[in-house]
Amino acid sequence: MLVGSVAGMACMTALAESSARPWMNTSLSPDQRATLVLKAMNQDEKFRLIRADFGQPSDGRAMPAGALNSAAYVPALARLGLPVLQETDAGLGVAKADKSGGATSLPSGLATAASFDPQIAYAGGAMIGSEARKKGFNVMLVGGVDLERDPRNGRNFEYAGEDALLAGTIAGNAVRGVQDQKVIATVKHYAVNALETGRNTLSSQIDEPAARDADLLAFEIAIGIGHPGSVMCAYNRYNAIYACENDWLLNSVLKGDWSYPGYVMSDWGAVHSAGKSALAGLDQESAGEVFDPKVFFDQPLRAAIAAGEVPQSRVDDMVRRILRSMFAEGIIDHPAKAAPIDFAADGAVAQKAEEAGAVLLRNQHELLPLSPLLKSIAVIGGHADKGVLSGGGSSVVYPPAGNAVPGLPPDGWPGPRVYQPSAPMAAIERRLPGKVQFNDGRDMAAAAQLAAHAEVAVVFVEQWDAESFDRPDMTLADNQDALVAAVAKANPHTIVVLENNGPVRMPWLDQTGAVLEAWYPGAGGGEAIARLLFGEAAPSGRLPMTWPKDESQLPRPQIPGAGLASIGMPPQGQPADTVDYRIEGADVGYRWFQKKHIEPLFPFGYGLSYTRFGYDRLQAKWADGKLVVAFDVSNLGSRDGTDVPQIYITLPGENHTRRLAGWRRVTLKEGATQHVEITADPWILAAFNGQQKNWQRPAGSYRVQLGHSATSFDGETSVELPAASFSVRRSRASP
Ligand code: BGC
Repeated sequence: MLVGSVAGMACMTALAESSARPWMNTSLSPDQRATLVLKAMNQDEKFRLIRADFGQPSDGRAMPAGALNSAAYVPALARLGLPVLQETDAGLGVAKADKSGGATSLPSGLATAASFDPQIAYAGGAMIGSEARKKGFNVMLVGGVDLERDPRNGRNFEYAGEDALLAGTIAGNAVRGVQDQKVIATVKHYAVNALETGRNTLSSQIDEPAARDADLLAFEIAIGIGHPGSVMCAYNRYNAIYACENDWLLNSVLKGDWSYPGYVMSDWGAVHSAGKSALAGLDQESAGEVFDPKVFFDQPLRAAIAAGEVPQSRVDDMVRRILRSMFAEGIIDHPAKAAPIDFAADGAVAQKAEEAGAVLLRNQHELLPLSPLLKSIAVIGGHADKGVLSGGGSSVVYPPAGNAVPGLPPDGWPGPRVYQPSAPMAAIERRLPGKVQFNDGRDMAAAAQLAAHAEVAVVFVEQWDAESFDRPDMTLADNQDALVAAVAKANPHTIVVLENNGPVRMPWLDQTGAVLEAWYPGAGGGEAIARLLFGEAAPSGRLPMTWPKDESQLPRPQIPGAGLASIGMPPQGQPADTVDYRIEGADVGYRWFQKKHIEPLFPFGYGLSYTRFGYDRLQAKWADGKLVVAFDVSNLGSRDGTDVPQIYITLPGENHTRRLAGWRRVTLKEGATQHVEITADPWILAAFNGQQKNWQRPAGSYRVQLGHSATSFDGETSVELPAASFSVRRSRASP
């Protein structure tokens, strides 16, 4: 009886709620629900939703009440039952959580990309999304997919490399992971924000076919896989027009061609107008009161509406899009709630990503894996006794146990320089108790002497890069080249572990025994590095970018305006007005190297393991409108291992470079063989035609190469494909 009346009351409350707030009826679609709320909103409520406030105190301005000391905040609209929007950075974990107990940092986005494993990307996204939710956030600014066009770009570590298919697949799966935790994700920075130098003003110059085949394709794929609730428009101008007021980028391509149903939020300080931005497709202004010249999406936009410059329907569309994503990602039906975080379990996710993504670049005479019977080992440099380095800027994740090496410059933005307290030295010592000696590398002679007396030396080399600046060159800072050379001279069994943003010059490479690219290794970095060095985990990462020998091999040997930091650092150069990406166009990375017949230091897709793999019985067939490539992979060595066979396709006709069209991560016991079938990605089989504004697949013979990397092949065939053309609307970014 009692049970019945409680159930009855609950039912009546639900009924009352659904008649007062019909949008709470979960059987309706997100679009229907958004439209219902919109009808009930007054103009002030609408305007409250289309601008977010900075979620931190700044310049004497107090933190908004209810904010969580994070990137941005939109207050709840209690009358309508709409929750607060709490936005947090970013792709590697919950940033700025120093005052809320810290968070777990994934390794660099490049490590995740180097795993070539969508499941690793998904698991990382799910982990950081769950931490965001447990800290009360429901919007996460995760999903960086700007292509790596230059190894000196300070933010490469937040992205997923140079190849559109790989980057889009990795970022899209990370977004899926985040959103499955009922947190809105934000693919960014749309588009071609490929350098930090002068990012607030410079124009990325690029032709439409090149953008569609490369940078925009990465977004299209990421959006198609991840269906992010939001897309962030970038700081830079795109073909002379600011990305956040670029009608072609936002209205024509994103919302038009790709039928993107979510909302466009601005980057912090990327808005330059009210009416123009609104009409171009911007839906929400982020932290304008702190970063833009003024808040555009309040009085100025109201004035533009009053003057008839912007129709009210545009504001309604902004609101409807934001609401739609809130319903679609479940943040209204399932409000974020504070909950304890299992840092050990989350750290294991980060460690696994690092183990899958670290790339073994060199291993002379099988110096690695190290034997647990070694009698002495010298560990040198890189603060390896304390922790592992993180990249800087808005994405930096503060560890729960605090920064392992506090106090290093810079004091302000884009610092602090954070080290995750997962010391490689301690992890090595656990495997070789009492046999490890450390030298911090500052006294080069002492470091070399320590190395000379050890069986093996491991030198940790580090390079702190960050949002807001690019390196002017590819040289390691702080005399580390000389340190490595001195240690390698003292001991030929020298292993170099790189903790950095990616490709650097390695003048000492030939003198070393082994090199492991560990990227910024994340919360489980020390343990992951030790497991890889000792062969407890098999190195399986493959480079998600080409590793040039030096800057002269790049499309732009000098970064336009190089040395000029974009914000927060003293200007040292002249801002460049444009960066001309028409030089390489769609031939980014390995495609540029092929076109120019230049040999990099290491090609895209390259990475060693502790065993060898061979490919056999390659076949390609065109059936049911699909190009299916089949082959056998064999583990030819005497250890278990994981390989990433890669399919590269060249379209018929002149001037085409080969492109990655698919891959598979295959784990094989020693001596084992596995048959693999890969369906080539249909996007890669067509090229964008700038005149006809469509994708065209020419008839003819398509070259199919089965690669260990973008330059080393073990099997080649060709297959005839019929001609076809596809409209831009064939997009998989559609809902
Ligand atoms: C970055 C964004 C970030 C935002 C909020 C900007 O400086 O470019 O990626 O999400 O700040 O912190």
